[in-house]
Amino acid sequence: MTVVGRGPPRVVAMPNDIPGRGPAGPWHVETALVHGGRPPAVPGAPLNTPIEPASTYHAGGEIEYARDGTAGTEALEDAVGPLEGGGAVAFASGMAAANAIMDTIPSGSGGTAHPPVIVAAEFTYTGVAMRLRELDDRGAIRLRRVDIADTGAVLAALPGATALWVESPTNPMLEVADVPALAEAAHSVGALVVCDNTFATPLGQRPLDLGADVVLHSATKAMGGHSDCLLGIAITADDERLESLRLRRTLMGAAPGALECYLVLRGLRTLGLRHARAQASAEVIAERLALHPAIARVRYPGLASDPGYARCRRHMSGPGSMISIEAAGGAEAAHRLTESTSLWVHATSLGGVESLLERRRRWDAETPAVPESLVRMSVGIEDVEDLWADLEKALATIA
Ligand SMILES: Cc1ncc(COP(=O)(O)O)c(C=O)c1O
Repeated sequence: MTVVGRGPPRVVAMPNDIPGRGPAGPWHVETALVHGGRPPAVPGAPLNTPIEPASTYHAGGEIEYARDGTAGTEALEDAVGPLEGGGAVAFASGMAAANAIMDTIPSGSGGTAHPPVIVAAEFTYTGVAMRLRELDDRGAIRLRRVDIADTGAVLAALPGATALWVESPTNPMLEVADVPALAEAAHSVGALVVCDNTFATPLGQRPLDLGADVVLHSATKAMGGHSDCLLGIAITADDERLESLRLRRTLMGAAPGALECYLVLRGLRTLGLRHARAQASAEVIAERLALHPAIARVRYPGLASDPGYARCRRHMSGPGSMISIEAAGGAEAAHRLTESTSLWVHATSLGGVESLLERRRRWDAETPAVPESLVRMSVGIEDVEDLWADLEKALATIA
């Protein structure tokens, strides 16, 4: 098995000067992560925007009420936007950001009458999938679910669509979509393209560059990186859409807390290091898992045998740190595996410093087409040999 090579170094254009220090960038993304969103460099001032526990501000200033955004929210947004090549709006969670994006999808565009038609990946994060189904059930949208990795099937579903909801790589099947081809086709029918980039992170993929109109992140995951807060981000290069997303945040009451903004911005400072290390470990672990007799299939776009390998090479800078495996012994073996590790934590979520695993079908809400034997693994930043030793011991119980 071969693992994909690295893409070219990513350079990020910084839209603003560093206050008090002059022009910023262009920088490599790792530098932008460290230096974006800093307060003005004034003698005696802190390097970080302080956590400000306030709902209400004295009248007449730029900020009057925290639900509209605060200095802490803006610092985070200033740091995140350039990473994806747009402007960012921070929300209370990834789901809050997803709902706000859904709420901006216009009715009746794409040549359709109300309600809007949304074409969405069959394998999408369960929360997003449930919400889309709920909106469909109550007639607020018309949902067409497609295999997002099957470009022909997506194209066939697009006529009359108002929006295309892409997730790539998908949760938990790790399929990779041909985002540029899908975006071009969606735009040709007037549909908005949303891309959930949570699994890839801005270091692995830049969907706006690939043609998407709006990018979604659950910053609860790799951006925050320490499993200690919830936060979501929406990013777009369209100023009108950006304003509309900000208004959704205010009207839906989906503003992130002051501590959460601080924690995610602090997490971003080390995202470059964490991402590189977790990805390097994931590559090693995926290769070893692919040779293990207790595993029927490894889903990881860094493996040459994976259907997403070619697209990953073309559109991503690396395959990331998420792996899904299917236990040869079925659901029971998969369950036993998740109960048999001691270092890998049996828990839901992903993108944190600690490695996690879980059998996804333990959730009733998970898409039924996800195999019962599938275990999703989020590789953290521990020593890779410790991770493998723990996994090998657990795999021996199901071999
Ligand atoms: C791909 C993806 N998108 C969105 C979300 C929702 O994010 P949050 O849990 O921050 O609301 C998740 C959560 O697991 C996710 O995995």
